[in-house]
Amino acid sequence: MCGIVGYIGKQDAVPILMKGLKRLEYRGYDSAGIAILNSDGSHSIKKAGNVSELEKLVDDSPLNGNIGIGHTRWATHGAPTDINSHPHWDHTGNIAIIHNGIIENYSVLKTVLEAKGYKFKSETDTEVLVQLISDIYYSDGLEFSQAVQVALNQVIGAYGIVTFCNDEPDKLVAARLGSPLVLGIGENEYFIASDASPIVDHTRNVVYLDEGEMATISNEGHEIRLISNNTIINKIATEIEFSIEEIEKGEFPHFMLKEIHEQVHTITDTMRGRLNLDEGTAFLGGVSDYIDRIQNANRIYITACGTSWHAGLVGKNLLEEFARIPVHVEYASEFRYGSPIIDSNTVIIAISQSGETADTLSAIRMAKEYGALTVGICNVVGSSIARETDCGIYTHAGPEIGVASTKAFTAQLTVLYLLALYFGRKNGMSKSEGKQLAKAMLDINVQVEKVMANSDEIERIAWETLKADNFLYLGRGMNFPVALEGALKLKEISYIHAEGYPAAEMKHGPIALIDEKMPVVFLAPHDRTFNKVLSNIQEVKARKGIIITVTDKRTKDLEKVSDYIIDVPSTHLRTFPLIASIPLQLLAYHLAVLRGCDVDKPRNLAKSVTVE
Ligand code: G6P
Repeated sequence: MCGIVGYIGKQDAVPILMKGLKRLEYRGYDSAGIAILNSDGSHSIKKAGNVSELEKLVDDSPLNGNIGIGHTRWATHGAPTDINSHPHWDHTGNIAIIHNGIIENYSVLKTVLEAKGYKFKSETDTEVLVQLISDIYYSDGLEFSQAVQVALNQVIGAYGIVTFCNDEPDKLVAARLGSPLVLGIGENEYFIASDASPIVDHTRNVVYLDEGEMATISNEGHEIRLISNNTIINKIATEIEFSIEEIEKGEFPHFMLKEIHEQVHTITDTMRGRLNLDEGTAFLGGVSDYIDRIQNANRIYITACGTSWHAGLVGKNLLEEFARIPVHVEYASEFRYGSPIIDSNTVIIAISQSGETADTLSAIRMAKEYGALTVGICNVVGSSIARETDCGIYTHAGPEIGVASTKAFTAQLTVLYLLALYFGRKNGMSKSEGKQLAKAMLDINVQVEKVMANSDEIERIAWETLKADNFLYLGRGMNFPVALEGALKLKEISYIHAEGYPAAEMKHGPIALIDEKMPVVFLAPHDRTFNKVLSNIQEVKARKGIIITVTDKRTKDLEKVSDYIIDVPSTHLRTFPLIASIPLQLLAYHLAVLRGCDVDKPRNLAKSVTVE
């Protein structure tokens, strides 16, 4: 949701910014731009389209300088045009800004500025902010950083910004409220970015800005203070935890495929040090101080968005079965504005890959006001949700760059299985049952390898269903959310319309859609619903639908009614959702590639959604 990067130091900022923008492109790719400050003044290049469009212009220009800012946009206010691209400038052309977020009161501020004679070139809220800063700077005689601070105190909304001014050409000013910013500290040079990925090539030392903080950065040093008052904040630098290889595609054509393959080890990584095979239980250090409070909760709300919400639905099934606590799963954006029943005996579990999703963050803030215990299940270490929750469990899947979430989803499920195992053992699950589940989880990596080995067969199914305009995904119980996730993956990256439905509910509506052109993906494990699902398959077959069955065991009946069967090895029925979600990721991937879609940059989507 917009990526921002800035540099100040002795090197040429241009290549640093351009490489940084490519790393941040997963956050938005509607348009991109850079602004550079050098001894001749400031200059910018910006262009609608993705970063490679900007790159062509930058390659043809002699632009260089030691201070610069860059932006890749996911449009909110105004279409993705050259004019609306960032950086934006004030009317004097001296002050440049890049912005991630939304200035909610931009219309009021714009009216006031227009009354003073200001003219606007773009439709963006960001141009209003830079003109406001300019108005304060040039009329109040303040230092630039003070003018930024005064302006930000008039703003309602969310922002991560980086700005510079020609009149004070030795500094960058950055600020954060609602959109993440990381400051990278090098030797007499600084980097600032929406996340650490543009920084890791240059330094591993970083400081995460917290909500309401601003930084004034020069070659000589940096100073962090609160935007609301002048309190200086001394922050300790931490080390970036991931390696450069983890954020490069390597030999894979797409990040998504790389990340699907990584599940061979990421699920095991999530369990590392947390599974006790001898006792058939789990240990989760991040929540151990709060485990009794979770166990004694009157209810649990799981709140999340997108794929993480689907993980939450699997979590509901697991926790209700094993912890025997009522669990409600809520879209964070709905939860936030609903009337949920929350008190100090309520536990809120927020699931988020990025740990930055604005709706999820707002939901936990609201729950905290009611005194609930908040638990984060996040992938990005040090992210806002990870820091703002009372306790939490990292998923340790490594950086996920592909916009469509894959390995982060299975890592989230893994954490939920670990919680379920822990609570199950507390609630009467026998040691031998616990050991069986723990062993099945530990063996998952071998099963993932087998699914990967089946990729060609899945690609063949993709070839044969390539022309379909609609897909239906059906599953029951814990596999209904897997159906939803399979449908979401397909929609996101191939733009084929797809719906996930509880298999038995199909006859109350979606069955009307079925004809000989409709592929229907069934999740059919041999659990207690197998025969019912088989009947549903037959109902679709009778209406000439194309049947793709994902199962842990072929039977004659299944073979008879299925057009295609995707075999998934499963040693424990409970872990079927975990393993079965992977062929659905592969199916969506192959369909998207065959249809010529940009898998890693699906239209209109962003990986990290930091606006509500
Ligand atoms: C965006 C992404 C999805 C993701 C959702 C929630 O919509 O495109 O892939 O599932 O945000 O993100 P989170 O980081 O909170 O899991």
